[in-house]
Amino acid sequence: MFRQAVISISDLWAGYEADTVLEDVNFDMYQDDYVGLIGPNGGGKTTLIRVILGLLQPDRGKITVMGASPKEGRRHVGYVPQFQVEDKHFPISVWDVVAMGRLKPGLFSNTFLSPHDKEAIEKALEQTNMLDLRKRTMNELSGGQRQRVYISRALATEPKILLLDEPTSSVDSQSSTQLYELLAELNERIAILLISHDLTAISTYVKTIGCVNRQLFYHHSKEITEDMLHSAYECPIDLIAHGLPHRVLPSHQHGEEHDRTN
Ligand SMILES: Nc1ncnc2c1ncn2[C@@H]1O[C@H](COP(=O)(O)OP(=O)(O)O)[C@@H](O)[C@H]1O
Ligand SMILES: [Mg+2]
Repeated sequence: MFRQAVISISDLWAGYEADTVLEDVNFDMYQDDYVGLIGPNGGGKTTLIRVILGLLQPDRGKITVMGASPKEGRRHVGYVPQFQVEDKHFPISVWDVVAMGRLKPGLFSNTFLSPHDKEAIEKALEQTNMLDLRKRTMNELSGGQRQRVYISRALATEPKILLLDEPTSSVDSQSSTQLYELLAELNERIAILLISHDLTAISTYVKTIGCVNRQLFYHHSKEITEDMLHSAYECPIDLIAHGLPHRVLPSHQHGEEHDRTN
C-alpha cells in the first residue's frame, strides 16, 4: 500500500532575506516515525521547524504537511517551542495553559470551551500525568513538569505530528529521561520530530536520526553516518570520546568492530 508522508520536503531552500540558512533539503517523514534531528547551534534546526509550521516561506522547493500546504496542514501539528519563559513567573494555571491549545485563532477573548474541548484537555493532561496538578500555577512547577504542560498543550490540539524544539534544554536529567519515555509512548499514535543537541539522549529513544547544518543529512536510519559527523561537528573524535553510544555508530569499513565504549 502507498504510504503517504506526513511531512514531505523536496529541494527546499530557506533563509532570512539574503541569508540562506537551509539549502537543498530533502526529507520524508511517515506516521510511525520518531525522528531526532541533531546539529550545531545556528545550523538551521529551528528554521526548519518554522518552515514546517508555515511561519517561514521557503525561497525554493516544495513542502507538504499531511498532504497539504504547511499553513493548511498545521492544524494537525502540535508544537512545543524552544524557550518557554513567558509564564514561568506568571500565575496562570496548568489547565488554562493546556486550554490555550483549544482556542481558535481570533477567539482569544472567548474562553468558551465545548465538552469536546474539555475532554481533549483532560485527556492531554492524563497522557502526560499532569491531571492531578491541573489547578497548580505554572510558577509552582518544576522545569520537567512545566515541559509536560507544554506537551499537554500541544496534545490538546489532537495532533498527528508532534514537533519539539530542544524540549529538555532546561530540564534536569531525570526529568529528561521521563520526557523521552513519554514521547516514546506517544509515538505509538503520533509522528514525532524532535530537535536536540543531546546526542546521547536522542540516540537512546528515537527511531531514526538526522543532522541539520545548512543541509539535512537523513537516511531514514538510526546510524550516524560519516557525512553527518563531518557536517555537524568539527571534531568527531571529540564527540565519540564524550560518550557517543556505541550502537549508533556505523561498523568499521573493513568489517572490524570498533570498541568505543572506553
Ligand atoms: N528571525 C531571524 N532573522 C534573521 N536570521 C535568523 C533568524 N532566526 C535565525 N536566524 C539565523 O539563522 C541561522 C539558523 O538559526 P536557527 O534555525 O535558529 O538554528 P538552530 O536552531 O539550529 O540553532 C542562524 O545563523 C541564525 O542567526
Ligand atoms: Mg534552535
